[in-house]
Amino acid sequence: MINDLWYKNAMVYCLSVETFMDANGDGVGDFQGLQRRLDYLAGLGVNAIWLMPFQTSPGRDDGYDVSDYYNIDPRYGTLGDFVEFTQGAKQRGIRVLIDLVVNHTSDQHPWFKEARADKNSRFRDWYVWSKEKPANADEGMVFPGVQKTTWTRDEKSGEYYFHRFYEFQPDLNTANPQVQAEILKIMGFWIQLGVCGFRMDAVPFVIAEKGADVKTPKAQFDMLRSFREFLQWRKGDSIILAEANVVPKENLQYFGDDGERMQMMFNFHVNQALFYALASADTRPLGKAMKETQERPQSGQWGVFLRNHDELDLGRLSEGQRQRVFDAFAPDKNMQLYDRGIRRRLAPMLGGDIRRLKLAYSLMYSLPGTPVLRYGDEIGMGDDLKLPERNCARTPMQWSNEPNGGFTKSDKPVLPVISEGPYGYSHLNVAFQRRDSESMLNWTERMIRMRKEAPEIGWGTFSLLDCGDAGVLGMRYDWRNNAVVTIHNFHDQPVEIVFKAGGEEGETLLIDIADGSDSRADEQGRHHMVIEPYGYRWYRAGGLDYLLKRSDI
Ligand code: NOJ
Repeated sequence: MINDLWYKNAMVYCLSVETFMDANGDGVGDFQGLQRRLDYLAGLGVNAIWLMPFQTSPGRDDGYDVSDYYNIDPRYGTLGDFVEFTQGAKQRGIRVLIDLVVNHTSDQHPWFKEARADKNSRFRDWYVWSKEKPANADEGMVFPGVQKTTWTRDEKSGEYYFHRFYEFQPDLNTANPQVQAEILKIMGFWIQLGVCGFRMDAVPFVIAEKGADVKTPKAQFDMLRSFREFLQWRKGDSIILAEANVVPKENLQYFGDDGERMQMMFNFHVNQALFYALASADTRPLGKAMKETQERPQSGQWGVFLRNHDELDLGRLSEGQRQRVFDAFAPDKNMQLYDRGIRRRLAPMLGGDIRRLKLAYSLMYSLPGTPVLRYGDEIGMGDDLKLPERNCARTPMQWSNEPNGGFTKSDKPVLPVISEGPYGYSHLNVAFQRRDSESMLNWTERMIRMRKEAPEIGWGTFSLLDCGDAGVLGMRYDWRNNAVVTIHNFHDQPVEIVFKAGGEEGETLLIDIADGSDSRADEQGRHHMVIEPYGYRWYRAGGLDYLLKRSDI
């Protein structure tokens, strides 16, 4: 069933067309603009792009409220521009993943308009209705504090419709076979236009049993298998990357015991523990989270990330741990969101400290899975807390010190470009960083190259190394007789550590592949080293003849 496992060792870059590059000067990013930046992305080493929603939409949830699945929003261009873009990406060896938002539609979608206008419409059962207001209508909101209910009265038909998210996003009745068939049709359509798969939005809600009588929604996992099968019958190397923020014991049900469901899932569990480690210099919960998510089918893969376009959800941490992260990275209420998370970008969270940024990203590139980098993070972009909710971290890409950061020629960008303070475009932009060999941008490019040359991380088995200090995370990956060892120091102080590199014979020579120097073990096979504050090391264990041992080159 699986034709290609490219996603096991890939580098994914996620972006919103709307805020990436505006080619026609109307203030809104578009596909022609994105196309002009493909060489930039190829140069960075990216080999897969994940596009946030760009289909026709009233845009009340940044495109996650789709009103036509078979078209692109005219503000971003035409379907023709889209195909030019996928073709351009293909020429450069870059695969395109797109968001698939099928838990709900916009309330402006013609299906919903028909469904509410006529109870006998064939679309009525495509949504979830209740004659009375269900008793649990004020439970299960995804955006607490902003969203008031999960059941809203439709004035037209006099009944209540279910919406897991905002009230303008009515849930589709995904148990309806016609809805399922339509989802396959949507996937088939975009596959035909050159995409290589989907980041599937809100997967646990897509497969949950829905309705007023449902007390404990059961997950309809078979649906995932049918999505997956359809996709691979149509195009063997296409994948689904699931957004499923679930507890570790449920992960395997999403991957499928034999890997027959989702190929990839974001690792939210590790993400939260990682931020706790950055805040507290205690890596034990992170190590535990890694262990808890270690088991997965051979073909399954984690998507690892630091920040994304949503809030940093800390809902899984204990209250004390969460408070620790808030204190360190988001002390003001205005920086927090939905009672559980942080809405800032990473660079301001870390006080713009380049050492900490490099530590965080080096860690992301070396965690088990495939890294997903968010646009702008390669230059350490900031946020604009004056903007509401999650918009603060969705400002336009800063290309140069031209007006509006070179993002648009218009003086009315779709969202304000950050122009003030330490993250303003006049000094923080791609053009400046390109010229500076020590910049975040050039460092990121080097890291991505190194990560791709370390397929052990994407493919192999990891073990945690005992470095004798809870503030230091040591990892070793083994794959096909090759091994990579990484060490990260979370302390703001230099540390002196002693460790064994592991491996069957115990590796005595660690060859530096990042910014340090080689390390030779003592007679007892122990490595001694001093690591600077927030420092990191990447080594190849077992010698450099790894190139000879790699079977894919
Ligand atoms: C998850 C997306 O990441 C988020 O941005 C969106 O608001 C919800 N799903 C609803 O589609």
